Amino acid sequence: MVKTIVGFEEIAAREERFQLATYQKLPLAIGRGRGSWIETEDGQRYLDLYGGHAVAATGHCHPHVVAALKKQAEKLLFYSNVVYSEVRARAAEKLVQIAPSPISKVFFCNSGTEANENAMRMARLATGRERIVTFTGSFHGRTADAISATFLGKYRELGRPNVPGHICAEFGSIESVRRVADESVAAIMLEPIQSMAGVRMAGPEFYRGLRQICDERGIVLIFDEVQTGVGRTGSWFFAGSEAAGGIVPDIITLAKALGSGLPVGACLVTENVAAQIKTNDLGTTFGGGMLAMSAVIATLEAIERDNMLENVKLVETYLRARLAHLPEIEEVRGKGLLLGVKFKEEIAAHVQKELLDRKIITGTSSDARVLRLLPPLCLTCDEVELFVEALGDALGGR
Ligand SMILES: Cc1ncc(COP(=O)(O)O)c(C=O)c1O
Repeated sequence: MVKTIVGFEEIAAREERFQLATYQKLPLAIGRGRGSWIETEDGQRYLDLYGGHAVAATGHCHPHVVAALKKQAEKLLFYSNVVYSEVRARAAEKLVQIAPSPISKVFFCNSGTEANENAMRMARLATGRERIVTFTGSFHGRTADAISATFLGKYRELGRPNVPGHICAEFGSIESVRRVADESVAAIMLEPIQSMAGVRMAGPEFYRGLRQICDERGIVLIFDEVQTGVGRTGSWFFAGSEAAGGIVPDIITLAKALGSGLPVGACLVTENVAAQIKTNDLGTTFGGGMLAMSAVIATLEAIERDNMLENVKLVETYLRARLAHLPEIEEVRGKGLLLGVKFKEEIAAHVQKELLDRKIITGTSSDARVLRLLPPLCLTCDEVELFVEALGDALGGR
């Protein structure tokens, strides 16, 4: 038996001693969670507006998800894709049903970066071309191809030697895409809302323009919806929404919220893409495992049963209205519950710390002016009030 460690100081010291120091951590040792709240090992409650990096969309430990996982864990934890499975069949069917037309099939994997790697491979297989266009400010993951597609900050350099054939266009500029996306390009891939870059979003005409270029030049359009997918923007996907100008890409990649905390990734594809993919073109041991699939079904059911898509719209409207009067804020960016509070000055890290002192967890971004909010989709207006009050207090004390 590994003995339980007691007390924040001891937990932090032991973790730092035995885990590689690759993350800058908040000074919390987390023990349990429920809804939009988490509790530390020593009993302090925090309002979680970060959701474990946009993962806890259904809230922490949603009872429907927990019950489904318990039930599945007693039946079978895992079997691979060499066999059929009732729970996998239902997860795939449910995902395709909620996806915008003409999405018609799914490939399951384990993370966001893996979903993006497979999406790019599918685009190359489908077109017989190699080059991939992504954007300034993009973040697509840390494995070889995904990090080579990432133009935010210094990530790409960490991935040296990069996979060849990655080209960068200007996010939001359809002209810059027209210049680089010629008939040698397999895919244009983008986060429809660039979260880590500071919650940057374009107008619907940009997404429509991308669809048009892809159609004209035989290019596969990939939406990396690792953050925007599974209800975060108030519709199941950004793809097909009004904000996207109604357009649907050829591939949508998902992860984060999809399993409410169990590692699950997915590529949703159209029939045209699916028709080009043969046995053994893609694969993964864990993708489509039973426990993960029961998490997918329960996550989607929980969002549906609790009307979370409606809640996201309502809470976004409320939050925007409540923040409108604060003079330190320049704008609130993003959509649904993927929001960037942009201050007039570079104070996001300071505000994050002040909020943490007031027991509210938020995120920063690569833009020092932008505080990021990625809360559970079940956040209530009363909980927003706690945030607004604490924010006013934090800003007033500067
Ligand atoms: C938009 C986007 N794509 C891909 C990834 C990579 O996902 P993962 O960390 O699950 O590999 C992330 C992670 O933050 C992300 O935000």
